[in-house]
Amino acid sequence: MWTGDDLQRLVSRELSDYRLIVVSNRQPYVFRIENGAPRGQMPPGGLTAAIDPLMRACGGTWIAQSSGADDRAAMDDAGRIAVPPDAPAYHMRLLNLSEEENNGFYYGFSNEGLWPLCHIAYTEPMFDSEQYGFYQSVNRRFADLVLDEINDDPAIVLIQDYHLALLPRYIREANPDAIIGQFWHIPWPNPDILRICPWQDEILDGMLGNDLLGFHLSGDCQNFLSCVEANLDAQVDPAYGLIDYRNETTLVRPFPISIDFASLDNEARSAEVADEMARLSRELGLHRGRILGLGIDRQDYTKGIPHRLRAVERLFEKWPQYRGQLVFLQAGAASRTNINSYMQLTIDIEATVNRINERFGHDGWQPVLYWPTSLPTATFSALRRLASFCAESSLHDGMNLVAKEYVASRVDEDGVLILSAFAGAAQELTGSLIINPYATEQFADAIHQALTMSETERRIRMRQMRNTVQENNIYKWAGRIMMHLMQASTPDHAGLTSTATTA
Ligand code: F6P
Repeated sequence: MWTGDDLQRLVSRELSDYRLIVVSNRQPYVFRIENGAPRGQMPPGGLTAAIDPLMRACGGTWIAQSSGADDRAAMDDAGRIAVPPDAPAYHMRLLNLSEEENNGFYYGFSNEGLWPLCHIAYTEPMFDSEQYGFYQSVNRRFADLVLDEINDDPAIVLIQDYHLALLPRYIREANPDAIIGQFWHIPWPNPDILRICPWQDEILDGMLGNDLLGFHLSGDCQNFLSCVEANLDAQVDPAYGLIDYRNETTLVRPFPISIDFASLDNEARSAEVADEMARLSRELGLHRGRILGLGIDRQDYTKGIPHRLRAVERLFEKWPQYRGQLVFLQAGAASRTNINSYMQLTIDIEATVNRINERFGHDGWQPVLYWPTSLPTATFSALRRLASFCAESSLHDGMNLVAKEYVASRVDEDGVLILSAFAGAAQELTGSLIINPYATEQFADAIHQALTMSETERRIRMRQMRNTVQENNIYKWAGRIMMHLMQASTPDHAGLTSTATTA
């Protein structure tokens, strides 16, 4: 099993001559003044939780947009913040965007254009020239900050996600020697879908400024290669996952992202979590024999939250024995709340929760609880440990790390994971009950199956999934990316094999 120490050793053996720079829109720690001092907290979302362990192990600089009300108060004289706040291991350098820039770049082209374009969730992408202009100019501003940070030293730049598709090209043009990799945290569409984006060629050209381009799944890699073949004057080698374009080569590979299994496992065994479990058991009536079902998501229309609630509703219709017994808790913070489709989602969720509670609830029992706030990590861990099942019903999802977090927290090797076939995690977590979130009847049946499964079967399935996540943890993910980056940056791509697009 890979550990942070293994990753640290690999990086200091192979990459000690290079500065490591991670770039993402989202910052790993957001600062707010509490009791007179800036306090750093990790924002919701898989990206920061996944990359922070890599940076803790390797050190370096993480460049991101400033979104914390009091980030400035935490900065040193050079504008850097040493993080994690409790045990500093790397630096954060932040870019301030105006409201107009953020509206065009983040809410606009990134989240009203690229996000729905890359997810098959039937929300129409919006493409607006002015927003795209901000996407370009903000990518340029990120490039300026990266180049300033590189300061002509040998550097590895690891770019995260769809907000920064143009950044690799901008860095490459100014600094041909930098080693540049990008990990795309969301799915990649096929050419028929991509072609509705008016700036598809420029987006592809930007991404081909990378030496290495990573997606979660081999299907995403294949889609990307097909898009390049269909749109650009490039040599595409699908067997090797190699693209030759503008006298440069980009290696395209799948790297299914993961979590820091050991850290979640340890936390789930802690006294703090045990206390939290006792408190929640009383609050939710579990100590009186009630059963907990759980959904945790950043509130997003791709997560299939209304679909999940409809399946819970159908369960209560079809199997009345769960009335008065099962409590389904939907937790997780709101996100991207300035965008209409997200506002509409909140209205839909609230209406569905109210309908179910009015239909089935009675004195002393509320069938569905809805907690759309951020909660302490110990509370999430306790909820995962207490839940008889966790349902993740994404309509389309690059990976879905909540599913892996549920598995890592089940140190008792119990609990059932119900997982959408359309989440990347379904390819690895084969011990879950795989569902189609659109098929309400089948989904309700899966919940019933979870609640009636024998303890022996639950344990066999959970043990198998825990082994998978423990083995394929975030350190292995980061180690594989680092090794491929080194290979990709050598002129002859030494050591590359033809297993190009298999995970
Ligand atoms: O899943 C895609 C993603 O961008 C993640 O990489 C990130 O953690 C999450 O969405 C959160 O999104 P945002 O930064 O918009 O809050």
